Amino acid sequence: MQRTLVSHALNAASPMDGILLQGWVRTRRDAKAFSFLEINDGSCLKGLQVIVDASLPGYDQIARATTGSSVEIVGRLVPSQGQGQKWELVATSFAVVGDADSTYPLQKKGHTLEFLREIAHIRPRSNLFGAVFRVRSRLAYAIHQFFQERSFVYVHAPIITASDCEGAGELFRVTTLDPKNPPTSPDGSVDFSQDFFAKKTYLTVSGQLEAEVFACALSNVYTFGPTFRAENSHTSRHASEFWMIEPEIAFCALDGNMDLAEEFVKYLIRDARKHCAADLEFFGKFVDKDLLPRLDFVLERPFQRCTYTEAIDILSRSGRNWEHPVSWGANLQSEHERYLAEEHFKCPVTLYNYPRTLKPFYMRVNEDGKTVRAMDLLVPGIGEIIGGSQREERLDVLLENMRQHQLSEKEYAWYIDLRRYGSVPHSGFGLGFERMLMFVTGVANIRDVIPFARTPGTAGF
Ligand code: 4AD
Ligand code: MG
Repeated sequence: MQRTLVSHALNAASPMDGILLQGWVRTRRDAKAFSFLEINDGSCLKGLQVIVDASLPGYDQIARATTGSSVEIVGRLVPSQGQGQKWELVATSFAVVGDADSTYPLQKKGHTLEFLREIAHIRPRSNLFGAVFRVRSRLAYAIHQFFQERSFVYVHAPIITASDCEGAGELFRVTTLDPKNPPTSPDGSVDFSQDFFAKKTYLTVSGQLEAEVFACALSNVYTFGPTFRAENSHTSRHASEFWMIEPEIAFCALDGNMDLAEEFVKYLIRDARKHCAADLEFFGKFVDKDLLPRLDFVLERPFQRCTYTEAIDILSRSGRNWEHPVSWGANLQSEHERYLAEEHFKCPVTLYNYPRTLKPFYMRVNEDGKTVRAMDLLVPGIGEIIGGSQREERLDVLLENMRQHQLSEKEYAWYIDLRRYGSVPHSGFGLGFERMLMFVTGVANIRDVIPFARTPGTAGF
């Protein structure tokens, strides 16, 4: 007998006989002649109501059907007598599959997110996390759909790499050397030529450089995979392991890149609104009352665009007392980004043309020699969700940038070759998948939109 998921049962068009339901007990109420169970299997937010008659074989097991236990029920799907649901299941057979004793940590009362983080192996069974991870799955699918519909080729960038794309030194080393007794060079330093890959290697911070290789061959490509940053940031928006989507487009300048980023973000919101309607309504009710109006507003309005220089001007004239002073050439801090998106523009805004000194070596230098064709997309409530740029396609300028950043021409020879053989203007960006999920669900902490969070000091589970 084939299993019927709760979501399918609840959406049934007509009554059905002999369906098999398998799931976990949320609640049980016993009356004299029968028991009511609510069964959830994670296929949707709602559970299916089940009536088990006391005369049924197997009813002697009913006391074992406690919250958290797993059960298997065969029955008839019939129109529900009760309110709030269309269908209910009248059991014809009932069995407990796995018991859950009274220590089961998800009881009816509400739990704090902090507590749920400590039971990351059980929290997917809660309404909130079930909804978060269904939306995460759907958006992963929508990401592929968006790019495949536009003839982008999916490229798998390596996880282990020898390059530091962002040049921020936030790298996790990958090594098999014995930390107690590493081989050393005559000068006493660790000799990484004897390491597993015969050189220093790291977990990737970005698949961009490899994506550029493929864009300069297959034209439009994207990566979608895990990235790692050993950044000691203790915020609600930084994780040490997160997923990034990085499109890279040949023959494309910064304008086209900004257009694609806007289209992409709107596409994902629209997809979630359509395919995760019940879960988003749940977030709108229990997580963030303004979520749905905000998402709809974002869909309707064109994103604003503003240069870094204009942004500095707006911030300086705001009359605010900034914790971090505002001046041309300084990095924008979270307080500045949020002011721009939440108070000044009141909608997503793409900042572009940042000071050259603030950005990595690969960005295209503008005619002024002082700024580069960088772009950051800021959204209300979160700040930066996308970072990208037009890439430097001129060999001489790239080499000069690399000298300024003290990068080895030998290590990056393959990257430089892209400018030697048929170089083209090209652009791309990275969308932080978890930040996008925070935006779409209203969930305020990045630890709660990734199955098992890795942050400084924490790698449990
Ligand atoms: O701005 P970033 O560092 O850009 C890059 O890595 C480029 N190589 C992307 C490209 O042009 N292909 O990172 C891109 C995005 C950020 O906007 C943010 O959404 C996310 O990745 N991100 C993080 N998300 C969670 N935790 C962190 N520690 C993050 N660091 C960046
Ligand atoms: Mg960035």
